[in-house]
Amino acid sequence: MMSPELILLVPLPYIVMAVFVGGHIYRYAVDQYAWTAKSSELLEERWLGVGSQLFHWGILIVLFGHIVGLLVPPSVTETMGISSETYHKIAIALGGSAGLIAYIGVWILLLRRLLVPRIRMTSDASDLLVLVLLLITMTLGLYNTLIYDVFVHPFPYRTTIGAWLRSILALQPNPSYMADVPITFQLHIFFAYLLFLVWPFTRLVHVWSYPVFYLKRAWIIYRRGRLPGAIGHD
Ligand code: HEM
Repeated sequence: MMSPELILLVPLPYIVMAVFVGGHIYRYAVDQYAWTAKSSELLEERWLGVGSQLFHWGILIVLFGHIVGLLVPPSVTETMGISSETYHKIAIALGGSAGLIAYIGVWILLLRRLLVPRIRMTSDASDLLVLVLLLITMTLGLYNTLIYDVFVHPFPYRTTIGAWLRSILALQPNPSYMADVPITFQLHIFFAYLLFLVWPFTRLVHVWSYPVFYLKRAWIIYRRGRLPGAIGHD
């Protein structure tokens, strides 16, 4: 019988990837018109503007840090003359500050959904689930980067978690890389799994819809004025 740890580290990542890809294909096939961010900008603009900008700019830098930190072996950056120590210091400074910016953003987006009545009434369970899963994943991620790495010891995630993830993607899963990974890093990955599992069935699908076609779309012209017969129009 496979141990729970082994299930988390070998079959589960493939199941998560299958649901992620399969879920997007299914969603695109049957639900194209709901493939949106379902923006609530018309209901409340100011806090959405602040929260969304902070979150999106921060998480893009965090994503870049994850791709380089987890998918590029240390030997490559060392060949470029960047030692592991230097790399880790840059990752903590850049990933940590970008992560904090995204974290403030996601808190604003969650509190906006809970505290602004018009937004609360137009939110469904998946909207809150996405924000709560993001918050938990990011809390654990920031704890790992800004507390564990700084006050406990700089954990060598590129030769452990990174090596494991690369073995998964190379279809030669090697769970032994994860043997000594602290629980807060493992929990971070576990909650990221949950986020990837619900992703295709939530508004997160908007990530793949880059509105490049907007560039060639005809302009929408807004005119200030009042419609004839509108209330209060004398
Ligand atoms: C939606 C999914 C994810 C989100 C939102 C997320 C977010 C974050 C954030 C905000 C941080 C702290 C800032 C930073 O160091 O960049 C972080 C750190 C980290 N994340 Fe993630 N993460 C996600 C998925 C993953 C996955 C799937 C893995 C590994 C398989 C991973 C591994 C790590 C590691 C190792 C750190 C600590 C880096 C260090 O010690 O400097 N993350 N994550």
